[in-house]
Amino acid sequence: MSSDLVQALAIRPLHWADIPAVDQLESTLFPSDHWSVEQWWRELAAEHTHYWVAQLHERIIGYCGLSAQLPDADIQTIAIEAQHQGNGLGGLLLDSMLVAASELSIQFIFLEVRADNQAAISLYNSRYFNRISERLKYYPDGETAIIMRRDSRQIGEQAQR
Ligand SMILES: CC(C)(COP(=O)(O)OP(=O)(O)OC[C@H]1O[C@@H](n2cnc3c(N)ncnc32)[C@H](O)[C@@H]1OP(=O)(O)O)[C@@H](O)C(=O)NCCC(=O)NCCS
Repeated sequence: MSSDLVQALAIRPLHWADIPAVDQLESTLFPSDHWSVEQWWRELAAEHTHYWVAQLHERIIGYCGLSAQLPDADIQTIAIEAQHQGNGLGGLLLDSMLVAASELSIQFIFLEVRADNQAAISLYNSRYFNRISERLKYYPDGETAIIMRRDSRQIGEQAQR
């Protein structure tokens, strides 16, 4: 990843005023299965949720969020604008969420991902998420959901292998 890109990137909490930009990204990245603006408002209003955006030169190019209820958390979403994918930015966003989860003393982080989403699965594997189960025909188009979990207690052990 270029150091210019890292220097230009800001990861900060998602504010109400960001919802239109995030909604637009969301509709493009998840055309058949995206949240409505109302759902974004509900998510931001909830007490146990935490959302961030990735901003590059004043433009929002990604977002992610976590729902935390000790000792567990669920990754609600993570996305990077198509033209910026594959540059390590998804990894930076995920790392920010993992730091926040650690500060919240979360032990288990869960997520679900489409079985055909190789980029996301690679990203989660690289951050020590393990596949624990699957839900057949979970998505509206019939695709299977893979359920993954990261156990913060096991990270040190795995990292040493
Ligand atoms: C998933 C997503 C957030 C990853 O963001 P990104 O900035 O492209 O990811 P990174 O550049 O940090 O790369 C993360 C990993 O994915 C791999 N990857 C990236 N694009 C890939 C592709 N098209 N196919 C396979 N692997 C890919 C990278 O090699 C990297 O793996 P590594 O760490 O083992 O080298 C991004 O692809 C995205 O927004 N997709 C659309 C929305 C989405 O599917 N979100 C996830 C919902 S569960």
